Amino acid sequence: MSNSVSGSTSAFAIYRRLLTYVGPHRWHLAAAVLAMAVYASCSTAFAALMKPMLDGSFVNRDTSAITFVPLMIIVIFICRGASGFFSIYLMSLIGWSVVKRIRQQLFDKYLDLPTAQFDRSSSGEMISRVTFNVQNIATVAADSLTILVRDTLTIFGLLCLMLYHSWKLSLGILVLGPLVALIIHFVSGRFRRLSRGIQDSMGQVASVIEEAVEGQRLVKVFGGRDYEREQFDLVNERNRNLNLKETMTRAASAPVVQFLVAVALAIIVYLASSGTLVGEITVGVFMSFITAMMMLFAPLKQLTMVNAKIQAGIAAGENVFAILDSESERDTGEHVLESDTVELKLHDVSFSYLPDKLVLKQLSFKVAAGETVALVGGSGSGKSTIANLLPRLYDIKEGSITLNGQDTREYTLDSLRRHISYVGQDVTLFNDTVLANIAYGQMRGTSLEKVKAACRIAHANDFIEKLSEGYYTVVGENGVMLSGGQRQRLAIARAILKDAPLLVLDEATSALDTESERKVQQGLAELMRGRTTVVIAHRLSTIENADRIVVMDEGQIVEMGTHQQLLQANGYYSFLQGRGDQATELPVQQSGLSAQQPT
Ligand SMILES: Nc1ncnc2c1ncn2[C@@H]1O[C@H](COP(=O)(O)OP(=O)(O)OP(=O)(O)O)[C@@H](O)[C@H]1O
Ligand SMILES: [Mg+2]
Repeated sequence: MSNSVSGSTSAFAIYRRLLTYVGPHRWHLAAAVLAMAVYASCSTAFAALMKPMLDGSFVNRDTSAITFVPLMIIVIFICRGASGFFSIYLMSLIGWSVVKRIRQQLFDKYLDLPTAQFDRSSSGEMISRVTFNVQNIATVAADSLTILVRDTLTIFGLLCLMLYHSWKLSLGILVLGPLVALIIHFVSGRFRRLSRGIQDSMGQVASVIEEAVEGQRLVKVFGGRDYEREQFDLVNERNRNLNLKETMTRAASAPVVQFLVAVALAIIVYLASSGTLVGEITVGVFMSFITAMMMLFAPLKQLTMVNAKIQAGIAAGENVFAILDSESERDTGEHVLESDTVELKLHDVSFSYLPDKLVLKQLSFKVAAGETVALVGGSGSGKSTIANLLPRLYDIKEGSITLNGQDTREYTLDSLRRHISYVGQDVTLFNDTVLANIAYGQMRGTSLEKVKAACRIAHANDFIEKLSEGYYTVVGENGVMLSGGQRQRLAIARAILKDAPLLVLDEATSALDTESERKVQQGLAELMRGRTTVVIAHRLSTIENADRIVVMDEGQIVEMGTHQQLLQANGYYSFLQGRGDQATELPVQQSGLSAQQPT
């Protein structure tokens, strides 16, 4: 019980919030309501016209009525048509403006959401929220308002006419009002539940499609077609069933209401024709009354269905507002980092992605301005995690990361990230030209000359110039038109062009053959000179020359030192390099912090 109460109050809150989006369009809305009032009056006027038509034109052969009535019919339908057109046009103008605005807000929110939230939701769901769910909101904003205003006014006008003609007959219908209300109330809850389910299932449908489309190569090579088909069948079937249920509820409620109206009609015909209760009624009045009653059908039916739309809109609003209200990336720092050199320090940093699984444990090390520090360690030891923490893609829970002595959380996100250049383990390219991919984001508009210079350092210019359109070749989604090594060189060129004082390279050259890696390495070495660099690599050639090597295992630092020192120490590092005496079995914990204590 209490559940349904809180459910309906929050539904009301959501509806009110949806209406705030209509606020800026209040003049459109006012015009639309006016048009609807005209529309409703026309309907009432038409029903009222039955009286002069029958009593005047036919029964009494009144000459003025004979010309007046046909003329009025024409006038009424011109007004009704025009007002109907304008009300629909204006309402859809409002509806689509609301959609546009909510979509924009949602998209902006997506750009600000913390990375962790993206880890938790599927991109299919996130896409379907902006496309499908928001559109449902348009339905509630436009259609339901139209129905609520226009049809309620029509019903009101017709009822007034009926009351005017005979209040006793009208009572016969009004008695049925509470019954109709009861049915509507019963049906609403069901509609909202179903709509919520439908939206979720649209998200699932989108998410399965997305995986199958994006992973199509894997699906083919690993014979995943049956599996994908099964997955899709499941969500597709669920979507169909939910939609069917919704339609069934809708289809069942309308005839029930109509049946009630028919009952009313039967009562009235009986009362009026038997003459016991109502007394004298002219044919014109009776026809006008019946016409008004018959004309109640359509708006009443609409009104019973409007609930479905409102419920769908509210369910969509719920889902969309939940995201709009969720927390953005925390950006409370007030210091603006403004420096050509940076000194990086990690102090007792502990971090976990999931509540109870520490990925980094009390990590401390320092990279002086201009120094290069290499992170090495087994797979899953937490190297990329450190790279994620520097630009604050995730926030640490314990310890501190400082740049130039100040905690990174105290800098504005924007200024912090402006000082960091990054080549990730997975290269991300946009479906755009080579040029746009390299001169991306804040580097947009960089001259082609500068881009070419960056590409020369990354040894990317050779292959780019061989592409059909050179720097203006579109690389396809995530760069499918390029080889792995080519993609990586574009990512390196992008990082070079950014020219930031802190350079983070996470397996930046892993996809290159030895020869190209050697060349790229030369370029990078030049770039790293005088620049604070954190480099993550498996290959010896990349890390040999680092000022310091931090050796990690299971989120902890187990050794630290230069290449030579670590080889001499003959610990985990030499084991990783395949040179240690104990290469076969090395109890990592025992190797301890052998080389140096972290600074
Ligand atoms: N987004 C995430 N959510 C939850 N856990 C994660 C996430 N990313 C990484 N992990 C976990 O954190 C641990 C460290 O991952 P990380 O990517 O830092 O390893 P790595 O040292 O870079 O390994 P590799 O050399 O294979 O790239 C792993 O156990 C991994 O399962
Ligand atoms: Mg990694």
